[in-house]
Amino acid sequence: MNTANVTETAQKAKTVSIAPMMDWTDRHFRFFARQIAPNIRLYSEMVTTGAILHGDRDRFLRFDERENPLALQLGGSTPADLAQCSKIGEDFGYDEINLNCGCPSDRVQRGMIGACLMGEPDLVSEGVAAMIETVKIPVTVKCRIGIDDHDSEEFLDTFIRKVKAAGCRTFIIHARKAWLQGLSPKENRTKPPINYARAGWIKSRHPELEIVINGDIKSAEETVKHLETFDGVMIGREAYQNPFGLLSEIERTIFKNETGLTREDIARAMIPYAKQQAEEFGTPVKSITRHIINLYQNVPGARMWRQALSTLPHKPGANETVIEKALAAYEQAKQKAAA
Ligand SMILES: Cc1cc2nc3c(=O)[nH]c(=O)nc-3n(C[C@H](O)[C@H](O)[C@H](O)COP(=O)(O)O)c2cc1C
Repeated sequence: MNTANVTETAQKAKTVSIAPMMDWTDRHFRFFARQIAPNIRLYSEMVTTGAILHGDRDRFLRFDERENPLALQLGGSTPADLAQCSKIGEDFGYDEINLNCGCPSDRVQRGMIGACLMGEPDLVSEGVAAMIETVKIPVTVKCRIGIDDHDSEEFLDTFIRKVKAAGCRTFIIHARKAWLQGLSPKENRTKPPINYARAGWIKSRHPELEIVINGDIKSAEETVKHLETFDGVMIGREAYQNPFGLLSEIERTIFKNETGLTREDIARAMIPYAKQQAEEFGTPVKSITRHIINLYQNVPGARMWRQALSTLPHKPGANETVIEKALAAYEQAKQKAAA
């Protein structure tokens, strides 16, 4: 890692981030992504206030400090619970608390969590004010550009104005609206059309706010372009599906960080991590390898890597050595392809 660059760009760490994604951005994926991209800001999966207050807190919140800068995304709407969970998150060592106002699933709506909160801006303001009062780290909000038939600049502006009045200075805007009924969460990430212009309009109305744009951004080139308008870019699916290709390109072009690290270096960095996780927490190696299966995306030999990691970690007694074996299988396939 080029430490000079990391220091130089530390303040800019927020300019590019990996989106919170349930089941995907758990601590193991985040550790992996951090090996590729030291300057990118990471987000947890959404954790509900109920899970933190009544569940196995350590299981939901624990992380490796090498993941920082890291934000905890909360799902909830009761101001006192949000405040209490923000404090717990701060004490765990998170660098930011983010409130989810963008997830449209039926399940979370029933708990007054996620995108339905865009229709309750006063409640969100109250929650955000309580969170800000309780912690010293930044409190941010992730939202959509609209919900259902509330699909106008005015609707989004009212939401932003009210939450801004509560003291929120950073909004991450997924630039498509959500249909709260009738579409699955997956469809809600593709069917409603993307509308960066509406988020750009918000930035021009509120230049003092930090507006981070999210939705369908797939390359360093697009990221650079969005940074002309917005203060930050958040990338979700592409960062998971093509982690090395995308993140190392972002490190190079945006953070001027020539890590020189290869895919093999990243794979090898995961071996001691998997060993440590197994020893300390009894983590099965498959919980880690499932996130590194896309490391060799779009390169010759990738199929062997994927195949090895789809089978070996599931065998009885599998441990971190399966990563070494998958590397050997990949190397053999690559040499065969080159011959
Ligand atoms: C598998 C998956 C899980 C997601 N879980 C969350 C979540 O927990 N909280 C959240 O705010 N958004 C969640 N999202 C939405 C992403 O954060 C992001 O807003 C969305 O994927 C659009 O960005 P993209 O086009 O770069 O993927 C999820 C997306 C995916 C694909």
